[in-house]
Amino acid sequence: MKKLLKKLLSPIFRSYDIRLEQNKQEINSLYKLLYNQIHDFDQTMPLAAAQTVGTFGFQWAELKEGEHMLSDRRFKDNVEYIITEREILIKKEWFKSKDVMDCGCGGGRWSYGLAKLGANVTAVDINESALQATKDVLKESDVRKQFVLTPLEQLTQQLPEGKKFDLVWCWGVLHHCNSFTEASKQVMSCVKEGGFIYLYLYGRETVDYESDINLFKNRVIYNTLQTWEEKEKFLINKSNGDKSKLHQNHDMFAPLLNRRLEFDYVKKMLEENGFTDVVRTVNDSEIYVRAVKTKMNPADKEMLIKPEYNPHWTTKFEK
Ligand SMILES: C[S@@+](CC[C@H](N)C(=O)[O-])C[C@H]1O[C@@H](n2cnc3c(N)ncnc32)[C@H](O)[C@@H]1O
Repeated sequence: MKKLLKKLLSPIFRSYDIRLEQNKQEINSLYKLLYNQIHDFDQTMPLAAAQTVGTFGFQWAELKEGEHMLSDRRFKDNVEYIITEREILIKKEWFKSKDVMDCGCGGGRWSYGLAKLGANVTAVDINESALQATKDVLKESDVRKQFVLTPLEQLTQQLPEGKKFDLVWCWGVLHHCNSFTEASKQVMSCVKEGGFIYLYLYGRETVDYESDINLFKNRVIYNTLQTWEEKEKFLINKSNGDKSKLHQNHDMFAPLLNRRLEFDYVKKMLEENGFTDVVRTVNDSEIYVRAVKTKMNPADKEMLIKPEYNPHWTTKFEK
C-alpha cells in the first residue's frame, strides 16, 4: 500500500516524507489530496488514467459475465425494452436504420440491444478487448457495424471527417475518462442537428464526498493486492461471498478513477454545447440524461415516452 500511495503521490509530494503509519489524520488528508488529483475534470494523474483503462481491459477479456450483462438471460431478453422504455424513453420504432454510436461500448450489451432495435452501430472503446467482445456479440446482427479503437478524448480524429450520428449513447464512461471535459466535448460534437445524446453518469447525490473517500481507500487497497486470488477473494468478500457479483464488484473497486457529478453541472455543460430538452429519464440519484442537439425534429416529438415515474429498471425488471 505504501508503495502504491508513494508512486501515486510522488508527482504531488516529490520532496515529502510520507510516514504513513504515524498519523491517521495525515493519511486521510493524503487520501483526499490523491482523490482530488485523480478526479480532476480536465485531466487525471497519468498513472490513474492508465490504471483505470487497464482494469477495464481485464474486465472485458476475463470477467465479461455477470448480472445485467449479456450472459444474464433476463437482461438479454429484455434489452430492447430496457433501452427504449426504461433508459432513453424513446419508442422502439424510432431506432430502425438510425446511425447510433455507442461510446465506451465495453462488453457490447448496449450495442447488441441497439442493433436488435435495427440501428446501425458504431462501437467505440479505448480497449481492444471491449471491441472484440462487442464484435462477438454483434456477429449475428446484419445492421451496418463499425468498430473504432480510440480514447474518447481523440474521437473525432478517428471518425470520417464531419461524421455525425442520430444518437450518441454513452453509458457509464465519461466519469472514467482521463479528461471528462475533453471526452464530453468530443462525444457531444458527434451528434447531428436534431439528434439525441444519452448519458449515464455517476451522481454525487448517490455517494457523498466522505463516503466516496472511503470507497476510494478500498480501491487503493484492492490495487495493492498482488495476485488475482487475493483480488478475487477481496471482491467476493465485498458481497458476503456472493460470486455472482464478481463482475459488478470488479467494476466498482478496480478502477481508481470514478468521478461523481451534479446534475446541474451536466445540464449546463449540455446547454453550453447547444443541447436543448435536457431531461432526466430515470428517477434515480445517478444521472440518466437525454438531450437534443439544437432543436428536436417535430416527428421525433411523437416518439418520446414521458418520464413520469420511472424507477431504475433493476428494481422492476419485467415488462
Ligand atoms: C463501466 S464500462 C461501461 C461499458 C458499457 N458502456 C456498459 O454499460 O456496459 C466503461 C467503458 O469505458 C471504456 N473507457 C474508459 N475510458 C475511456 C476513454 N478515455 N475512451 C474510450 N473508452 C473509455 C472502458 O474501456 C470501458 O469499456
